[in-house]
Amino acid sequence: MSYQGKFRVWRGDDEGGELQDFTIEVNEGEVVLDIIHRLQATQAPDLAVRWNCKAGKCGSCSAEINGKPKLLCMTRMSTFTEDEVISVTPLRTFPVMRDLVTDVSYNYQKAREVPAFAPPADLKPGEYRMQQIDVERSQEFRKCIECFLCQDTCHVIRDHEENKESFSGPRFLMRIAELDMHPLDAADRQHEAQDKHGLGFCNITKCCTEVCPEHIKITDNALIPMKERVADRKYDPVVWLGNKIRRRA
Ligand code: SF4
Ligand code: SF4
Ligand code: FES
Repeated sequence: MSYQGKFRVWRGDDEGGELQDFTIEVNEGEVVLDIIHRLQATQAPDLAVRWNCKAGKCGSCSAEINGKPKLLCMTRMSTFTEDEVISVTPLRTFPVMRDLVTDVSYNYQKAREVPAFAPPADLKPGEYRMQQIDVERSQEFRKCIECFLCQDTCHVIRDHEENKESFSGPRFLMRIAELDMHPLDAADRQHEAQDKHGLGFCNITKCCTEVCPEHIKITDNALIPMKERVADRKYDPVVWLGNKIRRRA
């Protein structure tokens, strides 16, 4: 079954732009990315959009649909009514390059600022041993597809460009938490999270968790435990010392 759907798609570049109205065919079983592709094929051949897998796994088709951060390829048209006007706009937190394509290099910069896994110097690859429970704890975080929807929705940077320098966002605070929970990681992740990556900015609103297409419990399983670890260390030096000794052992 087909119908004529109504869309408002943002067109423009880093100097400005506007929403443009389109009426276009929608077929049963389609997702919003199908409609964007049909627009390119029939009405707007120069419409810029980033995508790769159309399977919710590459994380590149992130945009905002009716103002909410979503993957274009995982948003089914059947979730809207036929008479609804659907807006498709670029991620608001990052600078627009053109149309639906934003410059997400902020995220790559923050990723580079997180030091890599730091195992004890006397252990060689193949000699690492850890409990299954520790493997499972970080497994959830490894599902991240780096779509940056959580980064887009986080109010700390969404409307506050000035916070970007001192706040790395939920995706990278989660990465630091993952490393801190690793029993063989010897780096000082708690100090790093608090002082260099702005963990204190997070007021655990859980908005990042709500938009994650991988359903990672970013706030409950990464950010809150990380805050607790930082507080333990700050207010209980015995805990900090104990952690260090245990890691060495
Ligand atoms: S829980 Fe923290 S990181 Fe997540 S959206 Fe809220 S303030 Fe941002
Ligand atoms: S944590 Fe979830 S929302 Fe954030 S980048 Fe990874 S997959 Fe996307
Ligand atoms: S195209 Fe890969 S996640 Fe949407």
